[in-house]
Amino acid sequence: MLNRNSRNIFRFLTRPFFHHQRNSFLLPSSTPSSQFTSVTGFDEKYCTQLHLQRNIIPTELKVFSFFNPLRNFLKTRQLGVGIPHHKCYGSMGGVVQRSPRFSELNDDDVKHFQEVLGEKNVIQDEDKLTAANTDWMHKYKGSSRLILQPCNTDQVSQILKYCNSRGLAVVPQGGNTGLVGGSVPVFDEVIVNLSSMNNIISFDKVSGILVCEAGCILENIMSFLDNEGFIMPLDLGAKGSCQIGGNVSTNAGGLRLVRYGSLHGSVLGVEAVLANGTVLDMLKTLRKDNTGYDLKHLFIGSEGSLGIVTKVSILTPPKLASVNVALLACKDYSCCQKLLQEAKRKLGEILSAFEFLDSQSMDLVTKHLEGARNPFPTSLHNFYVLIETTGSDESSDKQKLEAFLLGSMENELVSDGVLAQDINQATTFWRLREGIPEALIRAGAVYKYDLSIPVENLYNLVEEMRSRLGDAANVVGYGHLGDGNLHLNVSVPQYDDKILSQIEPFVYEWTSKQRGSISAEHGVGLMKANEIFYSQSRETVQLMTSIKNLMDPNHILNPYKVLPHSITS
Ligand code: FAD
Ligand code: MLT
Ligand code: ZN
Repeated sequence: MLNRNSRNIFRFLTRPFFHHQRNSFLLPSSTPSSQFTSVTGFDEKYCTQLHLQRNIIPTELKVFSFFNPLRNFLKTRQLGVGIPHHKCYGSMGGVVQRSPRFSELNDDDVKHFQEVLGEKNVIQDEDKLTAANTDWMHKYKGSSRLILQPCNTDQVSQILKYCNSRGLAVVPQGGNTGLVGGSVPVFDEVIVNLSSMNNIISFDKVSGILVCEAGCILENIMSFLDNEGFIMPLDLGAKGSCQIGGNVSTNAGGLRLVRYGSLHGSVLGVEAVLANGTVLDMLKTLRKDNTGYDLKHLFIGSEGSLGIVTKVSILTPPKLASVNVALLACKDYSCCQKLLQEAKRKLGEILSAFEFLDSQSMDLVTKHLEGARNPFPTSLHNFYVLIETTGSDESSDKQKLEAFLLGSMENELVSDGVLAQDINQATTFWRLREGIPEALIRAGAVYKYDLSIPVENLYNLVEEMRSRLGDAANVVGYGHLGDGNLHLNVSVPQYDDKILSQIEPFVYEWTSKQRGSISAEHGVGLMKANEIFYSQSRETVQLMTSIKNLMDPNHILNPYKVLPHSITS
């Protein structure tokens, strides 16, 4: 059992060492006042090295080719009847046909767009097209010949009005970090990229309400807010590339949901453009507004299938002075679960993240990410939990956390633990968790599942999958345990239909039996469009279809995504 004199280290902060945004920080605490004796120190060098890497997606990642999933990404044109087909590796029923309802782009279309947007915002450059046609995982690849980069809402409106009348299909694109094939074309859809709409419009310091354009990069908003003494209620590993419009459109969850709730709560308003070019101004900055149906929610999480989000109004919490991060090791999943229960009870309102990873995830990160190192003696622990607290009272926060950690050690819920002393250490802990998606990509091909499952049974799925696949794959489990969100990832040297057939539909059936969700936070995209019935009833999908038909009768917006292909194409 751990006790104060054990070799395990818990070091406590003596004063706030960083603000909530992990890349901007105050000076590290110089005099840690742990009541626990520190026997083995934390490797400062490795902290600093890793801090430099942070969690912004490196540019080279977007174009790298450690492996070549595209080689295995079977895209067959002229199959049988001469209609282009597209088979993706995300799901078994992944063969899609280009819908004959859509026109093909011609020179007159390009000329029209050049008149509306100016030549430089109508992009036909091969390299840029290749990047915009390919998703972050290099798993989905379209063949669009045109990227449009509008600079304002009116231009978005003109683009959609024209595409709707011409029958040109459109893919709205933000930072292209989506993980379900939603952000890239399936065939030759026109890409409407929001990057140029990146202005912060207003910020009200009294209410904390921010209004900005959809193309603002999440991390830039975070920096802006940091200077104002506020934070974003949303944080995720892709923050350096993803855009707020993409976050809203996917209803991204991320690392702070356990504290600040989902975007359905913090987004107060949106401006969106419908398929026919109509601009919907719902850009309210009110916390309360019960005048009729709250239609903004249709755009939160609909993945660009109902309209293009052009502006967002969002409620941001104040930046609090005291933030602590601890990385804890647990011997089994049951301990992680009990630790979560305890954390909710004992840390209550200061708990701001509760993330977990299994030892297979830790091994992947330390193997594939330069400088990443397990702070604990390796192979001893099966699970790791990252806990972050954020509060306004340094000494009482510290007291609470100390009592919680001590109690957890005494109850043997925690086998070992380290508490960050400064921003560098906190960043290295976070890197171990946030770096998993990147490590998986470096390891080879990956089948990714993002599931909501009752916490009690959540890890059973990982174990069952492991025994199903045996040595054929490395099955890893991590995620937002505080929200009951498992990221089950199956890492293999290359995509393989035989392995896929052992994973799907098993993984969806299993989740459905638990009344879980086959998409907790990543969305449905192309990957799971045909699988939606595992989580939604026929009647619900029928109503979704009616809404789609009403708002986008020609189905030009993000075709083949979200709803079953038979409905949308
Ligand atoms: P894109 O990828 O460009 O698009 C995503 C979807 O939204 C597409 O369907 C697209 O058509 C649509 N879209 C984009 N912009 C608009 C717009 N303005 N109007 C209408 N539709 C639009 N997700 C989580 O929920 N939690 C996480 O913790 C998390 N971590 C991640 C970590 C990494 C390393 C990566 C690569 C991804 C992660 N994601 C996570 C997935 C992803 O959903 C988020 O990165 C993000 O919300 C997507 O934003 P984006 O701007 O990149 O959107
Ligand atoms: C995460 O939590 O790391 C993201 O959702 C990405 C992933 O699931 O790999
Ligand atoms: Zn996640």
